[in-house]
Amino acid sequence: MLDVNGTRERHTQRFQQQAKIFAAPGRVNLIGEHTDYAEGFVMPAAIDFATLAAISPSSSGSISIASENFHDQVTFPLHSLPEKARHHWSDYPLGVIAILRDKGIDVPAFNLTLNGDVPLGAGLSSSASVEVATAIAVLSLTTATISLPEMAKLCQRAENEFVGASTGIMDQFIACCGAEDHALLLDCRSLDYRLAPIPPTVSIVISNSMVKHSHAGGEYNTRRTEVEEGTAILHSHRPEVRFLRDANVGDLEKWGSEMPHNVLKRVRHIITEDDRTVAAADALEAGDMKTLGRLMYEAHASYRDDFEASCKEADILVELAAKEPGCIGARLTGGGFGGCTVNLVEQEHVSGFIENLRNGYRNATGIEADIYRCHASAGAREIAG
Ligand code: GLA
Repeated sequence: MLDVNGTRERHTQRFQQQAKIFAAPGRVNLIGEHTDYAEGFVMPAAIDFATLAAISPSSSGSISIASENFHDQVTFPLHSLPEKARHHWSDYPLGVIAILRDKGIDVPAFNLTLNGDVPLGAGLSSSASVEVATAIAVLSLTTATISLPEMAKLCQRAENEFVGASTGIMDQFIACCGAEDHALLLDCRSLDYRLAPIPPTVSIVISNSMVKHSHAGGEYNTRRTEVEEGTAILHSHRPEVRFLRDANVGDLEKWGSEMPHNVLKRVRHIITEDDRTVAAADALEAGDMKTLGRLMYEAHASYRDDFEASCKEADILVELAAKEPGCIGARLTGGGFGGCTVNLVEQEHVSGFIENLRNGYRNATGIEADIYRCHASAGAREIAG
């Protein structure tokens, strides 16, 4: 449960000011992994874990940012804000402010309290939710009018240029544009999107393997480099292939042999994942849950075997889920190398599903999984009050 009143009260105690409150959600990706930076397709949903940002203007000439999660506060004069990341929780909000200023937006002095319940390091985009919550809160103090997709792009720049993680647009986009009870199919090239309703009879269950995931670890960036290497080989034969979005399985059959084996596998994952993601959106829109589930299992196998971004704990969670009655589909979600699996489960089976998954995982690994029953939620918004 988001602690709106507690956040408001603590902001008032700390800064002696009334705050406006904004929220930006975490996300779960139903399908389409590592396709965003290849200008392909993704289908995430915003979830009911979020970051709250309580903000009030200040006359001090400084910005202060407090984190309830880290029990810490930073203060900087507006004229000497940090110019680069310091490997500190405040890199995310400070990165957003740096990019807003770079964009020519006149950011005034303010006090900000951040308080989130998105599990950290679980692959549910806690960082994007902090960035987007900061952006929407800070922008409310300015005269700038920025659309939500534009805000997503600015927050992605904060993560790429300030924090130094070469991530794509998915997490910030869904944190901005998510819609209650819907998944969002995003074309990461045009940023066109369509919303697909999640049937009320289906629950999103997220199981946390408790294996920590981090973009700061080198694996995400290594995969990106491998993908770029493969793209360059295809581009040398077909110049119109600028991103893997432009390539197809036939290209791989012709020129895949020129790629190192690991590169070939990474490329194959992305090309086939794009097809699966578009087919999955069609299936969800048609109410064809059986096809959607099959595509999720296929996506997991490709993520595990070709992209090699799974881990044994996530594989166990998916295998256990697949045996459960009422489980429509399951796969590792997010950047990979740990984190959470996403499961679509028929509502009437959810309680038994969660209990059996928890027990099965404990028996197989000795690890106690956190399992969350989530709800597709709205994107960034002001909370009235
Ligand atoms: C992380 C990144 C996203 C995306 C996913 C993998 O969440 O932030 O941009 O690349 O990994 O699909």
